[in-house]
Amino acid sequence: MLDQKTIDIIKSTVPVLEEHGEQITTVFYKRMFENHPELLNIFNHANQKQGRQQRALAGTVYAAAKYIDNLEMILPVVNQIAHKHRSLGILPEHYPIVGKYLLLGIKEVLGDAATDEIIHAWTEAYGVIADAFISVEAEMYDEAASQNGGWKGFRPFIVANRVEESEVITSFYLKPVDGKALASFKPGQYISIKLEIEGEEFTHIRQYSLSDAPGKDYYRISVKKEAGIETPDGKVSNYLHNSVEEGEVLQISAPAGDFFLDTERDTPVVLLSGGVGLTPMVSMLNTVAELNPEKEVTFIHAALNGKVHALKEEVAATAAKAKVNSVVFYDQPTEEDRQSNSFDVEGYITKKWLKENIDLDQADFYFCGPVPFMKAVNSSLKALGVTEDRIHFEFFGPMASLEA
Ligand code: HEM
Repeated sequence: MLDQKTIDIIKSTVPVLEEHGEQITTVFYKRMFENHPELLNIFNHANQKQGRQQRALAGTVYAAAKYIDNLEMILPVVNQIAHKHRSLGILPEHYPIVGKYLLLGIKEVLGDAATDEIIHAWTEAYGVIADAFISVEAEMYDEAASQNGGWKGFRPFIVANRVEESEVITSFYLKPVDGKALASFKPGQYISIKLEIEGEEFTHIRQYSLSDAPGKDYYRISVKKEAGIETPDGKVSNYLHNSVEEGEVLQISAPAGDFFLDTERDTPVVLLSGGVGLTPMVSMLNTVAELNPEKEVTFIHAALNGKVHALKEEVAATAAKAKVNSVVFYDQPTEEDRQSNSFDVEGYITKKWLKENIDLDQADFYFCGPVPFMKAVNSSLKALGVTEDRIHFEFFGPMASLEA
């Protein structure tokens, strides 16, 4: 436990660090990767370039520091990040490295203002925060490894099948090479794939939501081919699309994530997705349809048009079997879409539409998609009086804020 003086120093210096946040984290990452280039095997190079991860990690350390005497308060946030860390394979021995270079960043940027007393206090505080993550993650590693079909770290999977779902989205059906049991998962969870790309110095790790219900002998992911092969994110998804054929072996970590459908609740469910954000939603849909076909589900999907609308037939077939109301929004329908009547509404999902078409009083809302979509859905639901405990969402990439 930290003494009161240390706590006071931490709390009084948080604003200073936040003010110099960007500079400190830039120095921190630069120095850390210079001295530990092997960490580039874990960190997402695309997020590094855009500075998103810099802000996410250090920002969370400062946010946690504000609650240093009551870390319980931020346990939900720790939990969410710990899922990501566990999925990536972050280990206790990584924490002192991050701590060392974060402290170095603080010293370098603040110069004389960073007195020994301040540095000492932050060293202690970082230790307390890191311990909180390490212990939550240890439990997660144990849980992932101990369940039937579970494992620790990365396990080789063979691509048993590839299915083109739209012009931009392809599904990969993955089966464990060892032929042994496959851990179950909660609909909405994701896996990490660790890829070695020929000619690349470092491995790339990316998360993909599982897109089918649990309980099968495979995991399915449905990957969007990101535009621009030059961007590292595009590099990975393009590699999967262009170079990973049936029979290829991929390294996969066990399912993780705290965004999942609560199958215990008997309230109606509204699943909203934009673009490739539909992947966790289809997993949820398929799960409800199998477990509880009488449950009232509304599946709302927004896509640009029919060419990029993935898993269309699968969702329609599920909707026909269970008590599912499926609504398709196209923002820019093609002539063919119009002729084949393949969508229900033209344009975006609006507050007005939700108000007029959805029972907002009881349902739980789950949504996933691009940031503007998420912001619009979130603010509409709030404005329509949907309580926070019924709003569940997930972002792609580092956490961002939904506030405008
Ligand atoms: C992701 C915080 C320690 C590696 C993240 C995210 C946060 C975060 C907020 C974004 C989560 C998300 O996108 O959902 C922290 C904090 C740490 C810490 C507060 C220390 C107390 C570490 C350590 C490592 C690490 C020790 C490994 C050396 C990563 C990686 C990601 C990540 C690789 C994924 C994002 C990317 O690849 O750009 N962390 N982290 N973190 N963290 Fe940590």
